[in-house]
Amino acid sequence: MKIGIIGGTGGMGKGFALRWSQKHDVIVGSRDAARAAESATEYTNLAKEAFGNINGTISGSDNLSVAKDSDVLILSIPYTNIDTVCSGLLSEIKDGCIVVSPIVPMTKTDVGFEFIPIKENKPFSYQLVSKHMNDKSKLVSAFHVISEKKLINPTLELDYDIFVCGDDKDSVEVVNGLINEIKGLRPIYLGSGELSYLAEMCTPLLLNAMIKNRIKNPGIKII
Ligand SMILES: NC(=O)c1ccc[n+]([C@@H]2O[C@H](COP(=O)([O-])OP(=O)(O)OC[C@H]3O[C@@H](n4cnc5c(N)ncnc54)[C@H](OP(=O)(O)O)[C@@H]3O)[C@@H](O)[C@H]2O)c1
Repeated sequence: MKIGIIGGTGGMGKGFALRWSQKHDVIVGSRDAARAAESATEYTNLAKEAFGNINGTISGSDNLSVAKDSDVLILSIPYTNIDTVCSGLLSEIKDGCIVVSPIVPMTKTDVGFEFIPIKENKPFSYQLVSKHMNDKSKLVSAFHVISEKKLINPTLELDYDIFVCGDDKDSVEVVNGLINEIKGLRPIYLGSGELSYLAEMCTPLLLNAMIKNRIKNPGIKII
């Protein structure tokens, strides 16, 4: 399976690439193909250091080429750039390509971390991304509550739940499989994509809890 990561040069992209390269061909995307290639080389070296050998590969390319080539496409970009990035890319993806949004619409204000859709009366991430998709059922929302700091350390033991929202059962199953491949993560299905705001909201909740109570490495686990 080819997993493309739009904005793969950022912290989350690095974590995804390191984790999934053990089994899959990962393509790191960037607005700048040279930056993508540099990151791909860095991640390959780090993955080999951590795991000894990897069964997949990590390569880099410009975002559009990545979008055209992927079976699963992760949108690892900031909320504010969804429209500019997705308008040029999501009409170009392969039929059947599953699009994953980990995007959190969050801002820091005087009172703490807040949820942009409520604060500024704007759409949540799933709604914004889905506007650009021909087959909206292929959009799955996940990975909002795992921090890059934990993902980029492949030897760090994890024990967290990941909320998943989406309309197509098969697409959700594929994403659940990718979550399960990251040891210590468990997928928890919340329901259709229209409920994605519930998952997206958990990130400012966690960050406020972390900072105001000095909790190290907070995460969510349903017990
Ligand atoms: N960081 C976390 O711990 C965390 C946890 C859960 C969810 N998330 C969500 O995951 C997503 C990625 O997080 P991140 O921390 O990796 O993000 P990031 O580092 O801020 O950005 C990721 C990449 O997006 C691209 N980008 C930046 N500005 C852009 C623009 N104006 N137009 C197009 N592309 C742009 C950049 O790639 P190029 O410059 O190479 O194009 C950048 O490396 C975000 O939506 C975030 O809310 C993050």
